[in-house]
Amino acid sequence: MTARNQAPTSMATFKHFYLRKLFILVSIILLVFVILVLGVSSNARNDDHSLQVYGFEIVNEFPHDPGAFTQGLVYAGKDTFFESTGLYENSSVRRVAVKTGKVELLHKMADSYFGEGLTLLGERLFQVTWLTKIGFTYDRKNLQKLGQFTHEMEDGWGLATDGKIIYGSDGTSTLYEMDPQSLKVRRKHVIKFNGLKVRYLNELEYIEGEIWANVWKTDCIVRISPDNGKILGWILLPTLREGLLAAGYTGIDVLNGIAWDAHKNRIFVTGKWWPKLYEIKLHPAKKHYSGGDIEQLCLA
Ligand SMILES: *[C@@H]1O[C@H](CO)[C@@H](O)[C@H](O)[C@H]1NC(C)=O
Repeated sequence: MTARNQAPTSMATFKHFYLRKLFILVSIILLVFVILVLGVSSNARNDDHSLQVYGFEIVNEFPHDPGAFTQGLVYAGKDTFFESTGLYENSSVRRVAVKTGKVELLHKMADSYFGEGLTLLGERLFQVTWLTKIGFTYDRKNLQKLGQFTHEMEDGWGLATDGKIIYGSDGTSTLYEMDPQSLKVRRKHVIKFNGLKVRYLNELEYIEGEIWANVWKTDCIVRISPDNGKILGWILLPTLREGLLAAGYTGIDVLNGIAWDAHKNRIFVTGKWWPKLYEIKLHPAKKHYSGGDIEQLCLA
């Protein structure tokens, strides 16, 4: 080979060498970029709020009928609640003044029905009953019974609505979505924490795109995404019940009843036979809770 022959060849090799280097460099940059983007988006997808724990402070406390075995609570505007109470021969749907706790209007149910969850959709209240698949609708103006329906849940425990769908609980770990016209189940999610079913989902409330559920026999409210059934956090309220007991109200039963005033962003909670109803504000818990702590406190 002559030098003249070599020159172009080595020039080509030289160019080729740098082009390859450039290509590898660009590939690495692209790869890092793709990994970063994928990482961020999968983080967002897997963002696990199930260990988000909230404490609370009491903003206001109001009197509550200590004879009310509260099973459903709805804020109805103008400082009034609709409330559903349970126990055979003692069940009712009532309109209650928030500030005084005074029962302004009461519909006493037939003795054979045990009232359960309640929700307000348009002009009608929907109520389910314990150990039956029968529910009732009432006129919000006068609490007169408008009709009766049959639902497809295993039992009637809690009801809530976003204005379009009726959400229901039946004491299992299933959150149901029902058509408000037919009460047919459209979708359901099994609510799980750390792979364990969260049983005894009880009174429900729809709050800003979330379902909040009392977990029966616990002092916990679980926040659920109705879109995918994932847990968005826990609210721990043991000090409310403990405070009432310490104040001598020894006849009280469990925490039950959540209401939401969407206009003033007020959260209300009470319990069965509780002489008080509380307006609360949430804050992230100061203490760290492990998954085991939550299992112990909130999974009955
Ligand atoms: C439920 O029982 C309590 C206590 O005996 C009583 O005061 C109240 O009037 C009863 N309510 C209904 C709706 O029957």
